[in-house]
Amino acid sequence: MALLVWLITGASAGIGAALVEEIVRRGDKVIAANRQVGQMADRASENVSLLDLDITSGPKVIASKVKEAWQIFGHIDVLVNNAGTFLFTPFEDTSDDEAERIFQTNVFGQLHLTRAILPFFRQRGSGTITFTGSNQLSGNMPSTTYYNMTKWTNSSLAESLRKEVSSLGIRCVAFECGGVATRLFEPREKDKIGKEDKSPIEAYVPGFTAASQDLGEWGMPPGDPAKVAKTMADVVKGEGMAVGRVWSSRIALGSDSLRWWKIKRQQEDVVMDRWEDVTLSTDRDDAVLSDKLDRFALIAGAE
Ligand SMILES: NC(=O)c1ccc[n+]([C@@H]2O[C@H](COP(=O)([O-])OP(=O)(O)OC[C@H]3O[C@@H](n4cnc5c(N)ncnc54)[C@H](OP(=O)(O)O)[C@@H]3O)[C@@H](O)[C@H]2O)c1
Ligand SMILES: *[C@@H]1O[C@H](CO)[C@@H](O)[C@H](O)[C@H]1NC(C)=O
Ligand SMILES: *[C@@H]1O[C@H](CO)[C@@H](O)[C@H](O)[C@H]1NC(C)=O
Ligand SMILES: *[C@@H]1O[C@H](CO)[C@@H](O)[C@H](O)[C@H]1NC(C)=O
Repeated sequence: MALLVWLITGASAGIGAALVEEIVRRGDKVIAANRQVGQMADRASENVSLLDLDITSGPKVIASKVKEAWQIFGHIDVLVNNAGTFLFTPFEDTSDDEAERIFQTNVFGQLHLTRAILPFFRQRGSGTITFTGSNQLSGNMPSTTYYNMTKWTNSSLAESLRKEVSSLGIRCVAFECGGVATRLFEPREKDKIGKEDKSPIEAYVPGFTAASQDLGEWGMPPGDPAKVAKTMADVVKGEGMAVGRVWSSRIALGSDSLRWWKIKRQQEDVVMDRWEDVTLSTDRDDAVLSDKLDRFALIAGAE
């Protein structure tokens, strides 16, 4: 494939940093974006341009950053929505500020970026947008309530958006990662909201302690950031393992991701069957299901 220009958010660490290396190794060009990009000054080179971008800075700033980024190498082929944060607290113990913060980072930040780049991609008639989601449907853990809510939106967005823009030459994919050994789970000083003095609600302490133990017992996550990066690059470029494959709007990465997904699918059947008669009890007496329904279900479904 021709050489590509990539814009990657959250490029300072973990999956984003590994992807920058992988891309440069392939001879492509990358705009490596991060808040406090000064931290990664040593990474700049002929083919790596750094962009200071806090994805929570709102649609206006983000739109002007995208414009600036577009001019660096003359265009952009791939937007990698990757910056993200984790939050581990019981729902009621999470302050509105913390909730707002994780939604701004994990959801609105990438919505703003995606909206800002779409006019450029439309004009060129090509472009790829990726999201680093997590194993969707597979896990809604206690005390990761907020994180899990934000992660669902990724896969949902990739699936819907693709249906809107594929005829315009634009592709979308959500990579639904299992556990990857990065520093995602280390709290960042800059994400602290300052509720140190607030003690946790007593009633949630046992549940939170149990959830912490469960997370602790998972041990080292199976995902290798370098391999995740390599696979993402293969998918976007249609190289290596991705040669000749049909494009998918959601791709699970990691054996844990696939295993969780399979278990969850079985559970979904059990849960839906358990109340089936109740489910069927609310139709109007004279209701007739439209034969178009299956067609809508297919349109709304996975691709
Ligand atoms: N690791 C996993 O197990 C796993 C599983 C599923 C999905 N994911 C997803 O993969 C993505 C990458 O995470 P990772 O595992 O590589 O974690 P990571 O090592 O913590 O990297 C996260 C990156 O996002 C950046 N970031 C955070 N908030 C930002 C903001 N407001 N503006 C700009 N950049 C910001 C971080 O920058 P700083 O260095 O400035 O904090 C860092 O570069 C995330 O979206 C995560 O949810 C990870
Ligand atoms: C930058 O990319 C060009 C084109 O792929 C390549 O020829 C050159 O060696 C790269 N430079 C570095 C420093 O990697
Ligand atoms: C929910 O969070 C847990 C803990 O990090 C994670 O294993 C799981 O994949 C997440 N699920 C989703 C849908 O993000
Ligand atoms: C989606 O991807 C972004 C980029 O990785 C991440 O910050 C966020 O947590 C994910 N949320 C969604 C919307 O899945």
